[in-house]
Amino acid sequence: MSNVVLATSSAAYEQRVRRALGGDLNGTLRRWHDEIMLTDPSLAVKELAAAGVEVVGIGPNVDLQLALNLARAFDADRPEIPVIVITESTKGFWQRAMRAGVHDVLTVDAPNDEIKSVFQRAIETSKRRRSNLLDEIGEQGVSGRVITLIAPKGGSGKTALATNLASGLANGDEKVVLVDLDLQFGDVAGALNLKPENTIADLAGAPGHLSTTTLKVFLTPKSPNLLVLCAPDTPAEGELVDEQAVERAVRLLAEEFAFVVIDTSAGLTETTLAAMELSTDLVFICDLSAAAVRATRKVLDALDQLGMDRQRRHFVLNRADSKVGIEVDEASAVVGLPIAATIPSDRAVPLSMNQGVAVVESAPRSAVGKSFLATAALFTEAPAKRSRWSTLRSSP
Ligand SMILES: Nc1ncnc2c1ncn2[C@@H]1O[C@H](COP(=O)(O)OP(=O)(O)O)[C@@H](O)[C@H]1O
Ligand SMILES: [Mg+2]
Repeated sequence: MSNVVLATSSAAYEQRVRRALGGDLNGTLRRWHDEIMLTDPSLAVKELAAAGVEVVGIGPNVDLQLALNLARAFDADRPEIPVIVITESTKGFWQRAMRAGVHDVLTVDAPNDEIKSVFQRAIETSKRRRSNLLDEIGEQGVSGRVITLIAPKGGSGKTALATNLASGLANGDEKVVLVDLDLQFGDVAGALNLKPENTIADLAGAPGHLSTTTLKVFLTPKSPNLLVLCAPDTPAEGELVDEQAVERAVRLLAEEFAFVVIDTSAGLTETTLAAMELSTDLVFICDLSAAAVRATRKVLDALDQLGMDRQRRHFVLNRADSKVGIEVDEASAVVGLPIAATIPSDRAVPLSMNQGVAVVESAPRSAVGKSFLATAALFTEAPAKRSRWSTLRSSP
């Protein structure tokens, strides 16, 4: 059974959708029109969600900006409910819609079969999201927010972002652990000027059951709120760390820390996938080169194929100000995700990594420092335990 609501004053359009869906609508279709939709989008979301809505169509006859405000409120508060915006013309609208987390867009005069397929797709998406959400809530053991950074290519800025993100998060009241899962060439210890006594290889070799107390032996403190599980000293030791060891470590750390930030090596290795599986959030980072952007899209497609769509996905553009041929909007469109944050190019980044102090510590007010802090704020402002889905990505 599905529960579809059209937020519009147009009874005629309600009839159109009803006709288009015909006998295939296994559930209810209702029209809803209320002032609060315009004045208080959050309240509108609450009201509709309380009524068990599964898919929302907004429009026609709704001001586009207001429609996007409402869509954004759904994306923030109830991301499991897909939003379809119905507009006079979609010209120039896609980018804005995508940023607002809109699931799909229909023109008012779209033919019946298009209306039907768009609504059916949204209903399917809603069902999938709901079942994922239930799995997630039912999942035992992982309670902290687990954020894994991914880039198909080396040199993308994963380590720069991971160290600054973790340091930024640790400026709050919560405990943060940064895991260096670049098992061959991890350089988090260097970037934060740490001399680890133990690494993730020692942890992997530790026998028997580890309690959260014994786990701490393997962590290297950077500041009162930031501990680091460093990468092995040599690539050979990196071989000792397998998926099971990663899974065990991440589960334990997530019980103890509010935030587990995981830096990885380039591409999708087995150990990276093991970490991703336990993550609440995935951060995809790349620069504006066409190759990096295309490769990121391929990674997302691969994850879709693996069915790994439970985790919130965030797309961060690094060196976003450098002119290397492709525009920010284009990158977002190719990857199929809105840009969650942009990091400018700044020599303070390599300098800070050489000196072993995160930019958010040495220059928090610089443009690049602020951009790292803004990325950290993505995880403190939105609640955990919520999946974020890519929208507007073509369904298989
Ligand atoms: N926004 C930036 N501006 C300037 N240099 C950067 C920026 N981001 C990363 N770098 C530099 O690029 C190099 C690669 O970054 P790194 O974080 O090590 O990438 P990855 O971990 O993805 O391989 C490092 O020398 C780093 O200091
Ligand atoms: Mg790195």
